[in-house]
Amino acid sequence: MRKSRIGLLFLIVLAILVLAGCASGKKVDTDKSLPEHVQPVARDLKFVSSDQMAGGCASCHMGPLSLSSMLQKMNHPPMPMDSVSQCLSCHGNDKPFPFKNMLHKAHKIGTPSAVVTSCVACHTMGIDGVFGVKGMLADGFQELTIKATTVDDAPDGCNSCHQTYAGGKDYSLKAETTKMNAASGHPVVPAADAKQCLTCHKPGGNLPLSRGLHLAHLVGEQNYFVTTYGASCLQCHVADDKGSISVKGLR
Ligand code: HEC
Ligand code: HEC
Ligand code: HEC
Ligand code: HEC
Ligand code: HEC
Ligand code: HEC
Repeated sequence: MRKSRIGLLFLIVLAILVLAGCASGKKVDTDKSLPEHVQPVARDLKFVSSDQMAGGCASCHMGPLSLSSMLQKMNHPPMPMDSVSQCLSCHGNDKPFPFKNMLHKAHKIGTPSAVVTSCVACHTMGIDGVFGVKGMLADGFQELTIKATTVDDAPDGCNSCHQTYAGGKDYSLKAETTKMNAASGHPVVPAADAKQCLTCHKPGGNLPLSRGLHLAHLVGEQNYFVTTYGASCLQCHVADDKGSISVKGLR
């Protein structure tokens, strides 16, 4: 017990050092043509880079916090294993007890007492825009380093940002797909919300909606979603207190 406290303390100190190291103190760009209530809030965006905890679970779970001792503590059947890849014989996606939300729940994600706050401590993005979990990546998975914060300015997800603003600024999903139509021939979609995108971008299909959206929002130093909205997963995703994570407004 005492040992695990010391381990936890070590982690907290480590986390503080990591966060302090990357607090950027960047000023936000305000857009004078937008009404005040949608102006980005001036704040310090504290980015965590996906390569900061490159080992995923192993970056935190070592010594007294090893995975095997964590399992022991939570009355899991005893498993003498310390690499998450070994868990997949039971918890892989095609196995009887797929992880799904188990690890979100184990870290209390979605509650105020979450023990891990940054999604990119565990998740890493592939060059195709699809996310995986460090230590559980498919063969040939090529990582693209991204950075993210945990700010949330968008209670309604897409529609909190993608709307028509007074003054004629049109960032609605229809306007975005119209711009994409000019750039790459994407169909113009007069969508009221993202549900309509799923008619072509079927979950599990070969055109997942996540792919294009992750790339469009999370990549690029000058990307407005990165500089102003903190490249935060929580602008689009929301976690409930059972650790289940969904996309706002999608289901
Ligand atoms: C950023 C650090 C960090 C990362 C990355 C991380 N964890 Fe944890 N994890 C923690 C902390 C802190 C606790 C709480 C420790 C405690 O209660 O003593 C915890 C708790 C757990 C528990 C026990 C939960 C319980 O109910 O007691 C398990 C199991 C676990 N983690 C597995 C994993 C796995 C598997 C991964 C990788 C997919 C992972 N963790 C990634 C920090 C991390
Ligand atoms: C031999 C099979 C097996 C292996 C290997 C295994 N587990 Fe499990 N685990 C289980 C079973 C069975 C359950 C209970 C599932 C349920 O209730 O639906 C479980 C449940 C869990 C839970 C959820 C507990 C809860 O109460 O919510 C976590 C977290 C977990 N395992 C983590 C791990 C980690 C991390 C590893 C690897 C270090 C691992 N397991 C390896 C069989 C296994
Ligand atoms: C402790 C490690 C850990 C952290 C932190 C974490 N995740 Fe996960 N996440 C996982 C694992 C493991 C899976 C299951 C992946 C699999 O089986 O392929 C998962 C699955 C998911 C899924 C797919 C869910 C489904 O039902 O298919 C989404 C979406 C997701 N995570 C988003 C997030 C977001 C957003 C955050 C931050 C708020 C986050 N995760 C934080 C480990 C983590
Ligand atoms: C917090 C604000 C915010 C949220 C929430 C948000 N977006 Fe965006 N979105 C932006 C910004 C800013 C850009 C422009 C990024 C840049 O500078 O290229 C953008 C760009 C886009 C583009 C243009 C992509 C391209 O290739 O030109 C599409 C389409 C889009 N978003 C759809 C969505 C959908 C669908 C959702 C919800 C699942 C969503 N957005 C959620 C702010 C947001
Ligand atoms: C009628 C079918 C259809 C609908 C509806 C649709 N898409 Fe697409 N989308 C496609 C096809 C096909 C591609 C791949 C070819 C391409 O890049 O144009 C694509 C690619 C994309 C891409 C990545 C490529 C790029 O051009 O930037 C993004 C982002 C995207 N769609 C967003 C959306 C959003 C957001 C919606 C809902 C507002 C939506 N799509 C609705 C067919 C559709
Ligand atoms: C612009 C909105 C948006 C942002 C920002 C965003 N996501 Fe997603 N994400 C989506 C959508 C849409 C899906 C597809 C959901 C579906 O089909 O049910 C998705 C799916 C996922 C999945 C499932 C696997 C996959 O890639 O398809 C994971 C894991 C995930 N997101 C993690 C993250 C993490 C981690 C971040 C932050 C670093 C993040 N997302 C930021 C919109 C977003």
